[in-house]
Formats: sequence, structure tokens, C-alpha cells
Amino acid sequence: MKWIIPTVLGAVLLDVYFRFLKFFLPLHLSLEAVPFPFTILAFISLFYLFFVRWLSDESTVSRWDIRTEKAGHLAMGYVSFLLVYLAIRDVSLLFLSTSASESLHTSQANFLIFLLAIASLLLGFLIARSGPVVRKVSVAIDSPVRFSKPLRIIQVSDLHVGSWIGKSYVEDVAKKIRSIGEIDLLILTGDIGDGDPGFHREALESFKSLSAARGKFSVTGNHEGYWSESEWNRVIEGLGFKILSNESAVALSADKDVEIRIAGIADARPDIQNAIRNLSPESLNILLAHQPKHADLAAKSVSESGAKVHLQLSGHTHNGQFFPWNLVIGFFQKYPRGLYAVDGMKLYVNVGTGFWGAPIRLGTRSEITLIELNSSA
Ligand SMILES: [Fe+2]
Repeated sequence: MKWIIPTVLGAVLLDVYFRFLKFFLPLHLSLEAVPFPFTILAFISLFYLFFVRWLSDESTVSRWDIRTEKAGHLAMGYVSFLLVYLAIRDVSLLFLSTSASESLHTSQANFLIFLLAIASLLLGFLIARSGPVVRKVSVAIDSPVRFSKPLRIIQVSDLHVGSWIGKSYVEDVAKKIRSIGEIDLLILTGDIGDGDPGFHREALESFKSLSAARGKFSVTGNHEGYWSESEWNRVIEGLGFKILSNESAVALSADKDVEIRIAGIADARPDIQNAIRNLSPESLNILLAHQPKHADLAAKSVSESGAKVHLQLSGHTHNGQFFPWNLVIGFFQKYPRGLYAVDGMKLYVNVGTGFWGAPIRLGTRSEITLIELNSSA
């Protein structure tokens, strides 16, 4: 089973050889030959990432591991763009005359495809590294609980603190959250840590001083579990967050205007019924679930006291993160991004405050979500 990815990668390399690399042979010492060694190096980095890093049981990392991981992630982005542009070229051949299609099968045409892949990689890298935007979303909640002024919730999801996202990126996120002003809740919806917690724990320090009138709550995602869920939970608790693992808590209210209860499910062992057990029909009930796929069941679930979930906050999808995956994510995820109404429950899917794998955003932007909750009329 674990050899599937390297086997697929080997097949991809063969395909790239016949559709791209062979046009640069025999190699000459010139700029036009660069795509050949560059692409081979990219595949070596990818093989190393998959064979040595991903198949390793080691959960601690060294500086060498971080460097090779970064090279593998960049290679992932480059190869993805290369394959997509080669596919576009080859599909376009179906509609072209023989002479036109021959002109697309030259070393010059392949060099242009190489340049396009590199330009996409660079542009996507710059966008990803520029950090998240603050996306403001108004959500009308249909519940018996009325509240006089909007509740302000900040949601951070899929930050993926690890080899690419460190202290300075997180400090920028914290600064942007602070600039929003007073908030009621600060919520993390998983995949916050994605690396050796011992190596990366200090990157999140700036989240410690962030405050929210009714508290800070978090659930785990799938990526914390790839390293050490319990260790990452300790790190996040140390920043002042309450971790909700198939359980709920009351979000303290300064003015007692409206009681909010927050439930959260553990991504590795989701149990919605247990998570919502102590929700109240008199409260505004919010469910945190890393993956939006839980929304269908959450919307139908009712606690023994008759309480329902009014709003689910999720992440996980990254909205495909970059072209062309942002265009096809809807085939794999029912709720890829933004706001949905699911059987009377509202669902918001944050597209990720950071990024995973290839340090690229193209066609999507990382976001910090500012949700303003209102009572629907
Ligand atoms: Fe994620």
C-alpha cells in the first residue's frame, strides 16, 4: 500500500520523459538545456520526500529534514504545473493541423512550457508567502436565541506550522487578528501544527497574547495526528485554547446577553453525538469540526435535551490551494469553501490561513475569517 505513491511517481517521470525531457537531448551546455537537469532534480527531491520523509516513522526532525522537505514541496508545485501545461498542450493538439502540432513538439515549445511552470511557481509562491487576507462574513443564525449586537468570531484554520510556516508568518497572522479589534471568540479548526511539535512549538508563541471576550477554542485536524496529536494539543493549550475532543464547553459571557456553547469533534475519532451531548436548547450552539463532511450529520443531530447545532465551522479543503486544483476541488469535497446552509444549519468553510505542501496559492488566497453572527429576522 505504501508503495503506491512512489510507483505512481515513477510512472509520472516516464510520462514526463517522453512528453518533455527527451526534447532536450542530447544535452548541450546552454540555457535551453536547463529544463532537463532542473526537472530531474525536482523528481529526485520528490522521490526523497516520499521515500525518505513520508515513509519514515520518525516524528522528530533535523534541519537537513526541513531543507529536503522544502525542496520536495517546491518540486511538488513545479511538477504539478508542468503536468498541467503539458496536458493543455497535448489536448490542444486534437484541434490543430499537423504542421501546427509539430511546432508544439519542439525543444523551443517545451522550453516555453518550462518557463510558464516556473513563472506560475514564482507567482504562487509570492502570493502564499504574502500571508492571509481577513475575510469578513456575515451569518444570520436561525435560532430561538436572540442577540442584540453581532457576535464577532475569528476563525483560523489549516495554518500548517511546520517547515514553511514559522514564527514570522504566525506573527503576521496575530498582528492582523489584533488589528480587527475586540472579538468574542477565537477559534482554531485544526491542522494548526504540521511538523515535529518539539521543533516548531515556539512559532505559535504570538497566539498566546491574543484574547477574546468569551474565550479561545480549538479542535485537532488530521495533520496534528501525523506527528503527535497529544503533543500539539499541549502546545495549543499552552497558548490559552480549550481543546474540544468530542465534548462541549460554555463560552463565558461578560454581559450574559446570550449563552454560547461550543462543541468540537476530534478529527481522528469523530463522535458528533457525544460532542453535542451537553449543548442546550437555550444556547447558541456552535460545532467545530476540521472536515466539512461532518455537516450533513451535524445538521440532523439533536442532543437528548433537544439542542441543535446552529453553526458549524470547518477547514481542511484549502479550496484546492492552487491552479488547477481550485477548479476541481468541488468533485472531491461537497463543501469546498465559504458559507452554506445545510438543513437549517449554517456551515462556514475556511480555505486555510496557511498552506500545505507546495508553498503556493494561485486562484485562492489564505484567509483569517471574521464571522459576524446575527439573529435572523
Ligand atoms: Fe489542512
